Amino acid sequence: MKRSQPDAVSHYLAWAKLHSNARFNLAASGVLDYPLAELPVHVGDLEIGGTGPYGYPPLMERLAAKAGVPEECVVYTLGTSMANFVALTALVHRGDEVLIERPTYDPLLTILDHIGANVCRFDRLAEKGFQLGLGELERKLTPQTRLVILCNLHNPSAALTDESALRQAGEMAAKVGARVLVDEVYLETLFDQPWRSAFHLGSNFVVTSSLTKAYGLSGIRCGWILAQPELIQRMWQIIDFTYGSPVHPAELLAVVVLDNLNRVRDRARALLETNRVLVNEFLARHPDLECAPSRFGTTVFPRLRMGRTPEFVKILREQFDTSVVPGEFFEHPQHFRVGFCGATETVRGGLERLSAALEALQQRPRRENQLL
Ligand SMILES: Cc1ncc(COP(=O)(O)O)c(C=O)c1O
Repeated sequence: MKRSQPDAVSHYLAWAKLHSNARFNLAASGVLDYPLAELPVHVGDLEIGGTGPYGYPPLMERLAAKAGVPEECVVYTLGTSMANFVALTALVHRGDEVLIERPTYDPLLTILDHIGANVCRFDRLAEKGFQLGLGELERKLTPQTRLVILCNLHNPSAALTDESALRQAGEMAAKVGARVLVDEVYLETLFDQPWRSAFHLGSNFVVTSSLTKAYGLSGIRCGWILAQPELIQRMWQIIDFTYGSPVHPAELLAVVVLDNLNRVRDRARALLETNRVLVNEFLARHPDLECAPSRFGTTVFPRLRMGRTPEFVKILREQFDTSVVPGEFFEHPQHFRVGFCGATETVRGGLERLSAALEALQQRPRRENQLL
């Protein structure tokens, strides 16, 4: 049977799974895996079955307490990935107008494509550090806008949007009857300053997040959605006809993690603090890259001032065994994303190779770089 439209595909995720691997991998955005052996749990503590019909009660209780919300505002999901899928399929229907930031995390666009939404964009500008521009957002809102989507911290730049800007964005959206979906997966990396979820800023906010990126816990897939109770029931219904039930041993592990979050957080904080110094020293040595020093998160998104980034990224991979994410996956082909959340030795080695590749680029005759 013929389809009228091609199937939705996340080219970024396909690339990340099949082609991002290298000896010095600076393509990842999630903290290095937390060793299972360091969690106070034994295999005999786990069980195959025992989840609840709609969430394992001890886990639901902890997720609600962590976010400071009532349990009826929480859906437990498999990572932020499934949280985004479930939230978007609950909130958006074919033909609905959705306003989403550019650059953004590619699978969000793919889900909207899959749903058949009418996708509109607002830009975060590189020259403004990819900060959320409220004027730009207001200009792009229309009476048809059903949903605004943004990530906080922003992916790929890790720019932080503060509560006041988020609240104003929520109020602007509310004026046209739109909700705001905030993907907060990287907000969990703000270890040293108090923050609360955008869910608290207005009844039109829906939030997705997980323990995956900030804590090195991608493998246990503990994610969640925060939304008003009238939306929550629809979200559980979507889970019923997608993956049905969660993985109970993973729920048990998530409870152990949430009861020991301080020790997991301390290890991630120490790693990111050390690696952030390295990446900032690297950026300071490279005026050939346009990028503000890193303050938050796990990634930076520099622009190569001279030469063409796609070819540079290819040379880096092929000749220096180092991977970064090509900016084309974020609709900014002259940029590339550098993740500094791996083992410190890998990050150090990767940054040294990036420097070597940049020096090699500078030594090429100018004309050749222009052609590159
Ligand atoms: C903005 C954003 N949301 C969601 C995800 C997926 O998160 P998870 O691993 O929790 O499924 C990613 C992964 O890179 C991401 O960058």
